[in-house]
Amino acid sequence: MAITKAVIPVAGLGTRFLPATKAMPKEMLPVVDKPAIQYVVEEAVGAGLRDVLMITGRNKNALENHFDRATEIESTLAAKGDTEKLRRVMYSTDLADVHYVRQGDPKGLGHAVLRGRMHVGNEPFAVLLGDDIIDSRDVLLSRMLEVAEERGASVIALLEVEPSQIHLYGAAAVEATDDGDVVRVTGLVEKPSAEDAPSNLAIIGRYVLQPEVFDVLEHTEPGKGGEIQLTDALQELAAESGGPGVYGVVFRGRRYDTGDRLDYLKSIVQLAVDREDLGPDFRAWLRKYASTLANKPKAGETLDEPGVGA
Ligand code: G1P
Repeated sequence: MAITKAVIPVAGLGTRFLPATKAMPKEMLPVVDKPAIQYVVEEAVGAGLRDVLMITGRNKNALENHFDRATEIESTLAAKGDTEKLRRVMYSTDLADVHYVRQGDPKGLGHAVLRGRMHVGNEPFAVLLGDDIIDSRDVLLSRMLEVAEERGASVIALLEVEPSQIHLYGAAAVEATDDGDVVRVTGLVEKPSAEDAPSNLAIIGRYVLQPEVFDVLEHTEPGKGGEIQLTDALQELAAESGGPGVYGVVFRGRRYDTGDRLDYLKSIVQLAVDREDLGPDFRAWLRKYASTLANKPKAGETLDEPGVGA
């Protein structure tokens, strides 16, 4: 069965970005000139998933407005004949068929995904987390869909991170398969300490799930942080004897983490330098500016690049 549905949990409070997120959802923070959430919806649509369900919460109206008509802006731009801006404003309206359901209680990612059950029904579906942006020039989601269809299993996206960073992610124990970029998942632990981590393969925010995950989530007990963890439900599916198991696609492309302030800043710079329109001027300025910093290390500086893909 072709996979057509994407679930995007967006109910988080975004407290790491206060005060910017006091009255605005964190998913609406601009990454260059588009809200972060638009990159994620574009990625889903690019992989053939036009049916998008957002799991929202309070204060998320701006998200709904972003994917809806903006008739006042449209008519003003149309009257002026500004077709380029009109195209930009209408793009996100027509991008996908977006649906919304509220999470209610913030009981964790597993709980958010379970709220999608009614809409998704008995079909495999994708889950995309808004904090991760995957470079549109690199392939991840479409490969995961392919692996899920071939193996009839749930598939997670894995990225090799520095061992010192693994405590920020779900971590996977894996075995090789005949496909170089695909591993079989033998165990999963949510946010382990570096000592307890089964590997430095981190789950990044892309999943293709079989509908059986809903039955598991119905009885998944709160785990790390007192929250119902998707990782725990997937661990159960991975351990189930006779089941299709869980596979991982090891991603070696570019991933931008917009989930905390430092990584968000890096994401904007990395995406802006590659833009055709802004890139040339921005690169020239950035080079000059970086040279003014080169000989002036400041207190507390490190050269680490936590969590950022190659
Ligand atoms: C969630 C998942 C975690 C995963 C991460 C990827 O955590 O629970 O397993 O590694 O997303 O971004 P969160 O970042 O929402 O705390």
